[in-house]
Amino acid sequence: MKKTFNIGIIGSGSIGGLLGKFWANAGHNILLSSRNPEKLKPLANEIGNNVKVGSVQEAAEFGDIILMAVNYKSVDEALQSIGNRLDNKIVIDATNPLGYDNEGKLYRMIPEGITAGEFMAKKLPKTKLIKSFTTLWSEYLRKEAFRADELLIMPVSGDNADAKDSVSQLIEDAGFSPYDLGKLKDSRPQDPGSNIWNKPLTLIDFEKQIN
Ligand SMILES: NC(=O)c1ccc[n+]([C@@H]2O[C@H](COP(=O)([O-])OP(=O)(O)OC[C@H]3O[C@@H](n4cnc5c(N)ncnc54)[C@H](OP(=O)(O)O)[C@@H]3O)[C@@H](O)[C@H]2O)c1
Repeated sequence: MKKTFNIGIIGSGSIGGLLGKFWANAGHNILLSSRNPEKLKPLANEIGNNVKVGSVQEAAEFGDIILMAVNYKSVDEALQSIGNRLDNKIVIDATNPLGYDNEGKLYRMIPEGITAGEFMAKKLPKTKLIKSFTTLWSEYLRKEAFRADELLIMPVSGDNADAKDSVSQLIEDAGFSPYDLGKLKDSRPQDPGSNIWNKPLTLIDFEKQIN
């Protein structure tokens, strides 16, 4: 049976704002947060029902499920401002560990030999961390959600099965088809540079790329 969640969005930008809209439309209760919540009011008004705006701390307290969607360079600062408010909660980590170097080139901000999901889980050891929504550009989400012919795949991974089930429902509620990649240690395909990263794929093509 479908559940209704309170979802706190931390980083209500391109990806967080859009997922907030999808999930509000699906009937979930959303708190969009910002360091300057006033600026999110137009977005909340546009979305309509089920949405309020607030501080980052309020979003962390409000959500049964938290979406973490801040720019990677801001992750530590955001987590510091949240303190222990995420303990025992489901956290969907949609971040990609990418930054820009002095020449404007993208680079990987975490060491090799560890997945981005495992790296984030080390920062949030008391949460049920689920990795998802990292692989598709927000414009694909905007344009391709609820595709009429066949839904696009959205991979999901995590070490807590119940939390992964809840996030799989949220993937469906956003108009995509969840694909369980396994545990966080198995989440390499969700990280930048993989065969499936930023490719809008349906099931057969997705499986060809990851196998
Ligand atoms: N955009 C995509 O297509 C896409 C797709 C998949 C994954 N991702 C990943 O999702 C993350 C966000 O990307 P985005 O493109 O959505 O970025 P974005 O549009 O720049 O939004 C990021 C948001 O993070 C908030 N933020 C920044 N520093 C913060 C802090 N210290 N505390 C709390 N909030 C803070 C900002 O809100 P305020 O300034 O209002 O506080 C901003 O609205 C990145 O890690 C990216 O790799 C993006």
